[in-house]
Amino acid sequence: MANLDRKTALHAQYLDAMGIQRWVARSSAVPEAGVAVTKPGQDFVADAADGSVALLDWDTLQARVAACTLCGLHQTRTQTVFGVGDRNADWLIVGEAPGAEEDRQGEPFVGRAGQLLNAMIEAIGMKREQVYIANVLKCRPPGNRDPQPGEVAHCEPYLQRQVELIRPKIILALGRIAAQNLLKTDTRVGALRGKVHRYSTGAGDATGVPLVVTYHPAYLLRSPGEKRKAWLDLQFAVKISRGAT
Ligand code: URA
Repeated sequence: MANLDRKTALHAQYLDAMGIQRWVARSSAVPEAGVAVTKPGQDFVADAADGSVALLDWDTLQARVAACTLCGLHQTRTQTVFGVGDRNADWLIVGEAPGAEEDRQGEPFVGRAGQLLNAMIEAIGMKREQVYIANVLKCRPPGNRDPQPGEVAHCEPYLQRQVELIRPKIILALGRIAAQNLLKTDTRVGALRGKVHRYSTGAGDATGVPLVVTYHPAYLLRSPGEKRKAWLDLQFAVKISRGAT
């Protein structure tokens, strides 16, 4: 019982850290699991170096990314930001691209948005170290501008290979850039939420990995009123990661 109380108190603490009023945590408020199957387009031409990215192991992949000069971003980056976390994680969380702090430290989500992301992860009972965190782009776009399509295309095989190596139970896409690029759609985030999408690397995974979309923590910092919806998305993603459809 004392254990349960401590757990409840901890949970409340995490929700507070997310800035969420606790009364919203009602399972009936979780969106129903729709099954919108959105597959990445088949028109992508893998071009990361020599196309052999699909065969690389973790260390070689990381080295390949660190040495990447396929797009202009290598000229302005301090370093590449490969990804961080448990390489056998059930959860893969995908953001947009490194910001200034991530470029400096070489790790995704280490700035203010990262602190909120940590609180979001803890709110669903996990720790940052238990998930894997990566971005659509491995290099910082100057001035934090949106990634350009060519940059995304060059970088895509790296993330695809990370998905193949991790084989997560769920991918959580944070924000418009991650969601639209992973799902090859221009549908807005609000309309992508509350559905189970599928991310397929095309490498022998016919059904793909379940993918849930939520708001980007940087957006949530600017629009704290939307945190309630993000909390619902997280609960929904937990349900899907446990096998609900
Ligand atoms: N925003 C992102 O999308 N990714 C990061 O790594 C940091 C901020």
